[in-house]
Amino acid sequence: MEQNTRSVEGLGIRPGVRGKTGIALVRLPGSSRSSGLERDVRRGFSGPRKQLPPKYFYDARGSLLFERICGTPEYYPTRTESVLLARHARGILDQVAPGTLVEIGSGSSEKTGHFFAACERLGLHVRYQPFDVCDEALRAAAARLRARYAWLDMELLVGDYAVDLPALPYSEGPRLFLFLGGTIGNLNHDEALNFLAALHGAMRAEDFLLLGFDRVKEKAVLDAAYNDAQGFTAQFNLNLLKVLNARLDADFEERHFAHVAFFNEGEGQIEMHLRARRAHEVTMSRIDLVTRFTEGETILTEISRKFTPEGMRALLEAAGFRWRRHEEADNSYFSLALATPA
Ligand code: AVJ
Repeated sequence: MEQNTRSVEGLGIRPGVRGKTGIALVRLPGSSRSSGLERDVRRGFSGPRKQLPPKYFYDARGSLLFERICGTPEYYPTRTESVLLARHARGILDQVAPGTLVEIGSGSSEKTGHFFAACERLGLHVRYQPFDVCDEALRAAAARLRARYAWLDMELLVGDYAVDLPALPYSEGPRLFLFLGGTIGNLNHDEALNFLAALHGAMRAEDFLLLGFDRVKEKAVLDAAYNDAQGFTAQFNLNLLKVLNARLDADFEERHFAHVAFFNEGEGQIEMHLRARRAHEVTMSRIDLVTRFTEGETILTEISRKFTPEGMRALLEAAGFRWRRHEEADNSYFSLALATPA
């Protein structure tokens, strides 16, 4: 792995130096975002229901648009979870006494600040391994954290959590794994079970998992959260077409698609689609693929499942975890579960 390790430019770190305040960046095998793209596009566009995995949203622009979504009044998950973390970070740190925080899908690492602030008050100097598919987001987060928490030793992991969990670089335990924001909801039942089982396999007996999950609630609240009035969610969804145009030399036109998102009550999930406003054809030159859209046809770009605490507990237990602690928001909009590998 050493040849894939390098220091982050622009942060005043000399290459190869990994001291107490070092910041290193490691590219895990799944980090080449486009490596699976051709396969995912061929598979996703071949069936009767077109679909693509949500990880392709997160180029630099997509990651910034997601940050914008988090600041909208309608998108309650981020701020609700942030309040929960502020309230419980210290108690969780007391229970886990971690040497390392490993955050899967860390994005801006904004909410994780509650843990670092609590660590500072407790005199606990943890190491941080943020793991994300977007290296620009990782670098920006590291620069911001470094300015505020000079003592924080960081190892930035660029990768795909669907494939890279077995390749996590070693770090001192106990490790507190964080999978926040409700990102678990992007996976369907089988994918979530496989992911949690892989995570379980990568964890040591002393480690803990803190999982943030979004709760089932009134449809109107959920529909609004994925249709913000400022249109950031629409831009985020449509950004996928820019990503495809850039990576596949494709000719998707944003004006030919509309953002659609709704809570599917039967499935217990938000579905986000791009709907063709008219029949047309799109060419993806780099992979020699042409795909036709009928008017009204959609690409399913994301699911975001909503859970009950009982449902999440059953899922964690099916993957081999033991449910240790549950904290929920006053309005029951969002939950944190703390679990251990049996
Ligand atoms: C980052 C996956 C948690 O599912 O709510 C927000 C992504 N998509 N608005 C979610 C998202 C549209 C978000 N996660």
